[in-house]
Amino acid sequence: MTAPRFITLEGGEGAGKSTHLRRLGESMRALGETVVLTREPGGSEGAEQIRALLVGGAVNRWEPVTEALLHYAARRDHVERTIRPALDAGSWVLCDRFADSTMAYQGYGQGLARDRIEALHRIVLGEFKPALTLILDLPVEEGLIRARGRGGAAGEDRYERMGPGFHERLRAGFLDIAVREPARCVIIEATRPVEAVAAAIRAAVRERLGLGLPA
Ligand code: TMP
Repeated sequence: MTAPRFITLEGGEGAGKSTHLRRLGESMRALGETVVLTREPGGSEGAEQIRALLVGGAVNRWEPVTEALLHYAARRDHVERTIRPALDAGSWVLCDRFADSTMAYQGYGQGLARDRIEALHRIVLGEFKPALTLILDLPVEEGLIRARGRGGAAGEDRYERMGPGFHERLRAGFLDIAVREPARCVIIEATRPVEAVAAAIRAAVRERLGLGLPA
């Protein structure tokens, strides 16, 4: 089932997802909406613990099936403990990464077949999916430079270390996901200045979900 108040932000490393999640949340709150901001992997106590197993350590620490299972274990906990209760209470939920990241990173990036990931999604979450997914797109090298410059939480660079070929595959993967599901996904060109990207995001939310956000 499509959750009408569930919006996800997706994209490769350094695309600016967290900045834009925060900004979109502020714009929606200014309209009087209730908004919960969250992230994956993480967003609930258990899922944050699983996150630590995924974002640090050796690049080849997990093989792709195990890695997808860990992401889906974290996602199940996050949906059950954070996302669904917030939606049931009438809030909007804005999430930094969700299931498309597993398809892009473990599927297109690490080579796990699309139908296996789709089957895993059905087992864990049925048809649950966001009403709108904003995919922030920018060239791989630019994103990796931004991500390295940002520093981030200590030791959270396992995916950044996976090599340019991996990041090119997942970028193409996100674009392919958007082509396959145009009713749900909007590509946002993220090389532009922050203000222009924020405006493009507000426009997408206005047009797709009918919210009265400013231009
Ligand atoms: P973050 O840096 O956006 O917080 O995300 C942590 C990393 O986890 C990021 O490099 C992408 C990766 N990831 C996956 O590989 N599969 C997934 O399903 C998710 C949610 C994230």
